[in-house]
Amino acid sequence: MRKGAKGKEQKRGFGICGVDLFCGAGGLTRGLEKAGLEVRLGVDLDAECKFPYEENNSARFLEKSVSDVNAAELNKAFEGAEYKLLAGCAPCQPFSTYQQGKIGPSDERWNLLMEFGRLVREVNPDLVTMENVPRLAEQEVFSEFVCLLEDSGFHVSHAVVNCADYGVPQQRNRLVLLASKLGELRLCPPTTPEGKRKTVRDAIGKLPPIEAGQRHDKDPLHHSSRLSELNLLRIRASKPGGSWRDWDEDLVAACHRKDTGKTYASVYGRMVWDAPAPTMTTQYFGFGNGRFGHPEQDRAISLREGAVLQSFPKGYKFVPKGAPIHTKHIGRLIGNAVPVNLGRAIGKSIIQHVEAIKAGEAEAA
Ligand SMILES: C[S@@+](CC[C@H](N)C(=O)[O-])C[C@H]1O[C@@H](n2cnc3c(N)ncnc32)[C@H](O)[C@@H]1O
Repeated sequence: MRKGAKGKEQKRGFGICGVDLFCGAGGLTRGLEKAGLEVRLGVDLDAECKFPYEENNSARFLEKSVSDVNAAELNKAFEGAEYKLLAGCAPCQPFSTYQQGKIGPSDERWNLLMEFGRLVREVNPDLVTMENVPRLAEQEVFSEFVCLLEDSGFHVSHAVVNCADYGVPQQRNRLVLLASKLGELRLCPPTTPEGKRKTVRDAIGKLPPIEAGQRHDKDPLHHSSRLSELNLLRIRASKPGGSWRDWDEDLVAACHRKDTGKTYASVYGRMVWDAPAPTMTTQYFGFGNGRFGHPEQDRAISLREGAVLQSFPKGYKFVPKGAPIHTKHIGRLIGNAVPVNLGRAIGKSIIQHVEAIKAGEAEAA
């Protein structure tokens, strides 16, 4: 459990208790806790989420498929709560642009959103929040989810927002749904609108320099993938905000020289110091996987840098001390997370809503 987590934040829980379905390594939970909410339980079927989830947050982790979770388990976690918040971020792969056309309604992950809906019906929370990729809003399953909420008596709002507007040093468009049985609930206005956005420099400018393939001795997550000789030549020829188009012809891969490859301009680039980072994917640690080159060091960004660009605190622990670090797995946990500061904006919006309702009730009494 996070040091000092019991105490200040929990006392400030505003009577709202949360359960986080599909909790992953805890991006959303950390953000909700940062806003001052109390989160009691996170559910995920990936056992490796337990350590980061519990180590950095106050909530307990339940390793289970959401499809197998029942209302009694969640109600136990909600015991004594004045207001119950059911939060969740079902896997977004079925709906992401990267998977366009490859995964459809027959994939069982497609239905996980309706499992979330089933738990809304069974648990009868006061508040619900859900985050996902923007494309989900175009799918029938999303309309069904919204209908289910409305039929259950919720006021529902949803919008696609840019996380860069909410204190995240990254361009990342996400669909955020908020629903309340107490009244209208909307996401708060941007906290860092254009002109005030956090940049790559703000986030990672002070992390110690490392070389491609090197792991920092004080922070094992500050590790950058090794680069081949060819990719080292390529990154040296890369410009911030550019792509492989900046290179001499002999460095360009055969697939990019073809007419069909010329459209893939958003790979092999460096980030720009004074702008938000591009969207962190689950493979952000690879130089060839996007514009994931460090702005000035000849390497891809490290696992830690990606976490910080997702607005995880610099000291967020993803594996126990001394445990092996599996780059692909940690990259997936980080790339899939709800950026902590977006979670905080969601939490703040919920707190302000509940406080306004309470103030209205006090005035009426
Ligand atoms: C988009 S990620 C969630 C990220 C998380 N909310 C955060 O902010 O860090 C989706 C998560 O759903 C989990 N998952 C996939 N299928 C599941 C299932 N049937 N039951 C529970 N968790 C599942 C994955 O292991 C993954 O951690």
